[in-house]
Amino acid sequence: MSAKIIDGKKIAEQTRGKLKAEAEAFVKKYKRQPGLAVVLVGEDPASKVYVGNKVAGCEQVGIKSFAHYLAVDVTQVKLIELIDKLNRDKAVDGILVQLPLPKHIDERTVLARLDPKKDVDCFSVSNAGALLLGEPCLAACTPAGCIELIKSTGVSMSGLNAVVIGRSNIVGKPMAMLLLQENCTVTICHSRTKDLAKVTKQADILVAAIGKKEFVTGDMVKSGAIVIDVGINRHEGKLYGDVNFGEVSKVAGYITPVPGGVGPMTITMLLANTLKAARA
Ligand code: GUN
Repeated sequence: MSAKIIDGKKIAEQTRGKLKAEAEAFVKKYKRQPGLAVVLVGEDPASKVYVGNKVAGCEQVGIKSFAHYLAVDVTQVKLIELIDKLNRDKAVDGILVQLPLPKHIDERTVLARLDPKKDVDCFSVSNAGALLLGEPCLAACTPAGCIELIKSTGVSMSGLNAVVIGRSNIVGKPMAMLLLQENCTVTICHSRTKDLAKVTKQADILVAAIGKKEFVTGDMVKSGAIVIDVGINRHEGKLYGDVNFGEVSKVAGYITPVPGGVGPMTITMLLANTLKAARA
């Protein structure tokens, strides 16, 4: 293996240490803890784990969490009533509505209701638009975490070719915007991209956010590239990334593992956004 492993777990722990100190300074100054409201609708097992990890992350750095668990058949009206209440609540600096929501609830309507200043996921149209225009805003957590991991290599991003595979609103699109802000030359690929390997082979930075187990193989990667694997694919009780780690680690210069790469950074960035929202 030639690639250096980017240890997301370690970097997340170091960052959380800094956030804890920041939260303590906030408490001294404002005589209250920063607060994050977490809303989960239904019983989806994966979502329950994510929400549990978010609440535990708050505890770790000294953010007060307000968890709201709603029944799977809660009405959209009731959910929006809760969001309005949290928007008004001065103890709540950030609001997170865990996705996906049940089919009878319109995700866009719900996310549009969030006060943009409290939208720590950066899922609202207003925050996504601010990110596009390069205006100060809360940046989407997973892409922001990826940027931190790339920066941890010490490699200057300016002018590098960055290729993002995947065009989701949660990862692909905001990831491309953040890479552009770092002065990368950015290409977004997706399921209709022709000759994908030809494009990915040009990438100095390759971000895989496709949602397909071990999709990126060694022959798709440029020698020495920084490879960031956003994938979380469960198969027979095991977690797999979107990157074939065995093959790609022989070619890349740097690579994130799954688990222990991007995952721990996402929640860390959520905590960072909550502090940023509290101080705003
Ligand atoms: N569902 C999957 N990923 C996320 C995330 O980052 N935030 C929220 N709110 N829901 C998700």
